[in-house]
Amino acid sequence: MSRELEILDSEIRTCTKCELHKNRKNAVPGEGPADAKIMFVGEGPGQNEDEQGRPFVGAAGKLLTELLELIGLKRSDVFITNIVKCRPPNNRAPRKPEIQACNPYLKEQIRLIKPKIVCALGTPAIGTLLGEDHSATKVHGKPASKGSVTILPMYHPAAALYDASLREVLRSDFGILKKLLDNTTSHETSTKKSEAGVSRETLEKWV
Ligand code: URA
Ligand code: SF4
Repeated sequence: MSRELEILDSEIRTCTKCELHKNRKNAVPGEGPADAKIMFVGEGPGQNEDEQGRPFVGAAGKLLTELLELIGLKRSDVFITNIVKCRPPNNRAPRKPEIQACNPYLKEQIRLIKPKIVCALGTPAIGTLLGEDHSATKVHGKPASKGSVTILPMYHPAAALYDASLREVLRSDFGILKKLLDNTTSHETSTKKSEAGVSRETLEKWV
């Protein structure tokens, strides 16, 4: 982890900016390489994540790992995080003030990591990154550009755990992710990583 990401990590682990800090065991800042090309953003930590302080370590995480392997990637190749870093009680959906309080951390992670592609998993993450009028049903698999970052909305793996047809949709959207990744790497000729990424101004426009 880079020094800046480490500092952000410890800030998140001690954060009390919203109500969600009250019931957490552990905040879950996220994990992955500091220079990951792909970032996954879920809804929020569940019970397993809260207990371990790590993202996507339960059944949804297992499916995410399988989907990554399907396109030749390992879990450790990507950065994984959530729109809120602390578990909402009883796994309820995160509320707007909580998402807003936590959003600067996600923006800072994107600014530091400079991913090429950010996969928004499920409607709360999609709404946070693309605007509230966007849902997984309407926009999954349709990449959208934000500065030099491509946002790829997808269904949440948890939704696909007990629904084989959604699993098929997710597999096909991971195929789109693979194509996007192949395209960005083939265009990465002389552009240095430090020159790529998304500007603070672009990020400020995100909810
Ligand atoms: N679901 C999420 O949205 N995030 C996690 O970290 C785990 C499950
Ligand atoms: Fe802080 Fe985010 Fe946790 Fe709220 S959810 S206490 S803003 S880290």
